[in-house]
Amino acid sequence: MSTSGPTSPPKSVSPKPVSPKPVSPKAASPTSAAASPPPAALDVTVQGDVTTTLHPELEAETYTESAYSESEVGSYTTSLSSSVMHYRFENGRRYHSQSMTDTNYFLPNDEAENDRLDLNHHVMFLIQKGKLHAAPLKDPQRILDVGTGTGIWAIEMADEYPMANVVGNDLSPIQPRWVPPNLTFEVDDVEKEWTHKPDSFDLVYIRYMVGSIKDWPKLLKQAYTAVKPGGYVELLEPDSTLRSDDGSFPEDSALAEWGRLFTGGARGIGAPLDDTPKFSDYLRDAGFTDISREIFKLPNSPWAKDAHMKEVGGYQMAAFIEGLEALSLFFFTTVHGMSVPEIEILLAQVRKDMKNKAIHTYFNLFRYVARKPETA
Ligand SMILES: C[S@@+](CC[C@H](N)C(=O)[O-])C[C@H]1O[C@@H](n2cnc3c(N)ncnc32)[C@H](O)[C@@H]1O
Repeated sequence: MSTSGPTSPPKSVSPKPVSPKPVSPKAASPTSAAASPPPAALDVTVQGDVTTTLHPELEAETYTESAYSESEVGSYTTSLSSSVMHYRFENGRRYHSQSMTDTNYFLPNDEAENDRLDLNHHVMFLIQKGKLHAAPLKDPQRILDVGTGTGIWAIEMADEYPMANVVGNDLSPIQPRWVPPNLTFEVDDVEKEWTHKPDSFDLVYIRYMVGSIKDWPKLLKQAYTAVKPGGYVELLEPDSTLRSDDGSFPEDSALAEWGRLFTGGARGIGAPLDDTPKFSDYLRDAGFTDISREIFKLPNSPWAKDAHMKEVGGYQMAAFIEGLEALSLFFFTTVHGMSVPEIEILLAQVRKDMKNKAIHTYFNLFRYVARKPETA
């Protein structure tokens, strides 16, 4: 498919009032955080053919100040600029072209969004303790990255496996031109019929595609066809539901209201953000076996006591705050009928909640690995 540049703006706006309630640090004070137990051992359960691993609990740090400062937020962003954030493009804010697809992908594909994706890649890298994948690959020959975004994962995989051919596809041709010789990018709509040769990939990798995909069972069936017998599919997807275990996240906060609008918006366009727990069923129905599911708690700010999880939360906060407007605009205008000024008022409160040290939220992040049987 051709790789000409996208230009379409997001859809139009109509007003609907919203009244977010700010959260005072006092009102949001944790009650049980100080008494939390130390991180628990991994909790593994086996049900039928699905093994679920729950990673340790998070324990909250005790702070004297009430909010993360601008410089704390900024330090996580700027410390990355020389490493993972150099895949930049000089265009203004933009969305993918509607000319090649009728899909409603909700995020922009501009420089600010690409920076957020690269920050998010770093968060994923950290939370997986420096691993790019969990599937047990042995001399892979072909790897497919579905919805590659900036291509950062595909580039690092091509470097890590120089003997493999890596392919990254996406609606938008936003990937860098100068990439490792064993990597190619394709413009493609992955909800349409795949044209890859059946039984040809050692790994089909899918990350942060919730909110983009309307028909997950179909996508995973196409992945099954594309994977070699004995090969793997791997998914790393959040359930996008803001949670807290210590009573520190008031339901009437602007952040909680934002979370409801966000997941409701995705449901409104038919591409749910919170269907992730169902993926083991979809994988099994597609024909995959040996399904393993790991659930990471992904903190949304550096509230954890544990140094590693604090770092994860810091970068996650920076990515979340940087992406907040992009994550909100399409759903909030088209599905909820909010005006841009209304959204900006809400987002100002949401940013305050995100920086509030007394609020300890996290997302569940699901990592699935599943194998195509040798003899299908
Ligand atoms: C949230 S980003 C994640 C990018 C990348 N997987 C990562 O984890 O960094 C989702 C990406 O999927 C792409 N996308 C959305 N719908 C798509 C579709 N139907 N076909 C191909 N790509 C799609 C978007 O253009 C965007 O680059």
